[in-house]
Amino acid sequence: METLKRTRIADLLKSGNTEWIGKEFCVKGWVRTKRGNKNVAFIALNDGSIIHNIQIVAEVQQFEEELLRLVTTGSCISITGVLVESPGQGQPVELQAKRIEILGPADAETYPLQKKGHSLEFLREIAHLRPRTNTFGAVLRIRHAMAFAIHKYFNDNGFYYIHSPIITGSDAEGAGAMFRVTTLDAKNPPLTEEGKIDYSQDFFGKETNLTVSGQLEAELAALALAQVYTFGPTFRAENSNTPRHLAEFWMIEPEMAFFDIIDDMDLAEDFLKSLIRYALENCADDLDFLNKMYDNELIERLKTIVDSTFVRLTYTEAVKILESSGQDFEFPVGWGTDLQSEHERYLVEKYFTKPVILTDYPKEIKAFYMKQNDDGKTVRAMDVLFPRIGEIIGGSQREENYEKLLNRIHELDIPEKDVWWYLETRKFGSAVHSGFGLGFERLILFVTGMSNIRDVIPFPRTPQNAEF
Ligand code: 4AD
Ligand code: MG
Repeated sequence: METLKRTRIADLLKSGNTEWIGKEFCVKGWVRTKRGNKNVAFIALNDGSIIHNIQIVAEVQQFEEELLRLVTTGSCISITGVLVESPGQGQPVELQAKRIEILGPADAETYPLQKKGHSLEFLREIAHLRPRTNTFGAVLRIRHAMAFAIHKYFNDNGFYYIHSPIITGSDAEGAGAMFRVTTLDAKNPPLTEEGKIDYSQDFFGKETNLTVSGQLEAELAALALAQVYTFGPTFRAENSNTPRHLAEFWMIEPEMAFFDIIDDMDLAEDFLKSLIRYALENCADDLDFLNKMYDNELIERLKTIVDSTFVRLTYTEAVKILESSGQDFEFPVGWGTDLQSEHERYLVEKYFTKPVILTDYPKEIKAFYMKQNDDGKTVRAMDVLFPRIGEIIGGSQREENYEKLLNRIHELDIPEKDVWWYLETRKFGSAVHSGFGLGFERLILFVTGMSNIRDVIPFPRTPQNAEF
C-alpha cells in the first residue's frame, strides 16, 4: 500500500468538505479509548490538533489479533482508512480502518492515564504526561492562541518586539528577590579582602541575576522606537506559595513614548479586551470544554469583560471604600499599605462587579521609576484588577525628569553606578512615557477559568518544585 501523508484530525473533523467523504486518509495520534465487541472495535484517537477525537472503526477479523491487542489507551498508532459519514451520534465523520500500525505501545498496566477524571493535583505530579489530557490540551492550545494574539495585537498597532535580556546586572523592581546567575564554585568562592564573595572573578565580572522584568530595557528601546513591547520569561525568588504566583512566569511589557498614564490605561483596557475577544472567536471548542468541565460561568464572564467599561479610581478612593466596607479582611487595610488580593477581589467582584483600574498609589509601596505626583506622596501607578485574579496588570507613567528620578534613586539608596545608563535616557532626549506588565499566566488563568496558576504553564516553577 502506498503511504499517505498524515492529515491532522482537526482538518478531518473541521473540513466540512463533503468531497473528502469516501477518500482515504492517514491519521496518527494517541489512543484515548478502545471499546467494541468481537466483530468491531471503536478507537477514539486524539492527535492534539483539536480537543475532539476521531472515531476509528476497525473490523476485527481484518486485523491480526496481536495488533489489535496492542491498541491500548495511551499507545501511539497510525491509521490509514476511508473517511465516512458516521452513523453514530457525537461525530459527523469517522474513519474505517484499512491499515493499523503501532508506533509506540503503552503498557496498559502501568500507563498512568488509564481513566478519565484524574485530579489536577495528581496531574501536576505527572507533568510529563498531562498534555495528553483534554484539560491540558485545551489549556495549551489556548495559551498558544493568546501568545499569538498578543504578537498580532502589537504588530497591528505599530509596536516593535524587543528581546530584553534574561541575565541582568540590574534589579528593575528593586524587590530584591532574584535568582543569582554565577559560575563561581559554590563551595569555595573567591573572596575579597573584606571576606565578601568576589564577583569580579565571576563570569560577567560582576554580580548577575535572572531578570524580574524587561521594563528598564524596554524603556531604552521606547525612547528610540516609540512603541515597543517585550514578551519573555521573568523570574522571582519570592517564597509565595499561592495559586497566583510562579517563580518563573512570562510577562508582556509594552512601553510607549509620548503616552501618559491615561493613554497607558486606555491601551491596557483595549489590549485585554481584544485578547479575550480573540479567545472567544478562535478557541470556541476548548472554551466550551472548560466551561462544561470546570467553570460553567466562564464564557459568560469572558463576554462580560469584552462588553464592560473598566472602572477607574485612585488608590486613596479604593482604601476609603475598603475601610467602610464592613468586611472582615484577613489583612488590615489603611492608607499606605499594599492591597492584598482579597481587597482587590472585593472591589472587583463585590463592589463594582467590573474590572477596576486603580491609580496613584503611595510612592513607598511602588518602584523607584514611577512618575511622582505633585502631592509628594503618590506616584502615577496603575494596576488593573480582574475578577478571580486580582492584579493582572501593573504599570505606570515613568519619571522622565532627570533630577526627580535621581533624587528618588538616592532616597532609596540605589547605587547610581547600577543605573547610570537608565539615567542617561533622561539626560539625552527624555520624553513622557508609560508602560505596563501583563502576567501571561494570570491572563491564561482568567481566560481558561482554571484556578491554579500551576495548571496553565507546562512546567511550573514554584518553591521546592522543579522536577520536570
Ligand atoms: O506588577 P509587576 O511586578 O510589574 C512589573 O514588573 C513592571 N516592571 C511592569 C511594567 O510596568 N512594565 O508585575 C507585572 C504583572 C503583575 O500584574 C502580574 O500579573 C504578573 O506580572 N506577576 C506574576 N505572575 C505570576 N507569578 C508571579 N510571581 C508574578 N509577579 C507578577
Ligand atoms: Mg504589581
